[in-house]
Amino acid sequence: MAFTKDSEIKIKEDIFWIGGDDRTAGLFEGSFPIPEGVSYNSYVILDEKTCLLDTCDISISAKFWRNLRHALDGRKLDYLVIDHMEPDHGAAIVQVIETYPDVIVVGNSKTFDMLDNFYQLKPANKLEVKEGDVLCLGKHTLKFVFAVMVHWPEVMFVYDEKDRILFSADAFGTFKTLSGALYSDEIDFDRDYLDEARRYYANIVGKYGSKVQAVFNKLENVPIDMICPLHGPIWRGENIGYIMEKYILWSTYEPEEKGVVIAYTSMYGNTAAVADKLALMLKAKGVENVTMHDVTRVHPSYVVGDAFRFSNIVLAAPTYNNNLHPTMSAVLEDMEIMTVQNRKFSVIGNGSWAPQSPKIIEERLSAMKNMTKVGETFVIKSSMRPEQLPELEKLAEDIVASMQ
Ligand code: FEO
Repeated sequence: MAFTKDSEIKIKEDIFWIGGDDRTAGLFEGSFPIPEGVSYNSYVILDEKTCLLDTCDISISAKFWRNLRHALDGRKLDYLVIDHMEPDHGAAIVQVIETYPDVIVVGNSKTFDMLDNFYQLKPANKLEVKEGDVLCLGKHTLKFVFAVMVHWPEVMFVYDEKDRILFSADAFGTFKTLSGALYSDEIDFDRDYLDEARRYYANIVGKYGSKVQAVFNKLENVPIDMICPLHGPIWRGENIGYIMEKYILWSTYEPEEKGVVIAYTSMYGNTAAVADKLALMLKAKGVENVTMHDVTRVHPSYVVGDAFRFSNIVLAAPTYNNNLHPTMSAVLEDMEIMTVQNRKFSVIGNGSWAPQSPKIIEERLSAMKNMTKVGETFVIKSSMRPEQLPELEKLAEDIVASMQ
């Protein structure tokens, strides 16, 4: 890769990546921790007409402007295509229009509504497109494929018929910076990025699985040689099949693999001790994939990410104020919102005098779509007694059996 720090990168003869990494933000959307940062991608096509596909987050605007000016090399900008209006890609829209007053802004009716809502802006030069419309830049013809609710209602993918590139907005993106790599085949994605890609999908697009499927259906017979998302690495060649396979599983709520995520809250270590013991029993019975989260210490997005990954979920929490401990309630709320479904679940509760947590966990998990309870609810009163071990062993056996 001809990488020059802070300069545009040629991804095709006349197409350039002009994105950048952000390692300064602590939270994405003011909500999701991004300890490994995030990248914001945008692209420029230099054809008979010049075209910018999306802008940037404000955190990388200086890089974006350096890259854009360098890529255009004195040419004027003819088109600004807005795939997605979320400000992590739209922070420079106003300045782009001010800098290139003749630019034609390309979007759909919802794009222009949002442009007005966010920036009180009604561009003088605009091209409002509909599903399937095309825009010819010279050698490149761009086709607009609406991707409603992947992740917002105005989102549209753009397909370049010449180079068979799908500009996919938020889809196929990930948390985590690129750190010098631009393509997924330049990194060990499975080892270093997949967990963050899954957490990104599950928490950003996860509830819109049917919408993801709808746009996949529209693209079924479209040849794609490269996928250029707005976050994370570019996908090309055979690697496209890898991420498509993940997206098909995630968007149909099928687990990626057999395994157990155990998420627990513990006030004085007694509920944690049960969770730990169960994990030991599961491993001893041959379960390869067991992941644990102390939800007093991790953001719910990590639990939701692993709920999309594994076949089995175990939630363990104490009773609190005759209710469920609020940290576990927050996890369940995120699972509800992101429509976690089609999983097997088991429940562990704790209550010193009136255990309410197991009942509440079970009710809330059971209310999610296509969820199957495995084993008997395991309840302790303050701490686990030695005589309860066979009961916990039975729960472990039931979980193992459910994975066969
Ligand atoms: Fe990366 Fe929905 O914005």
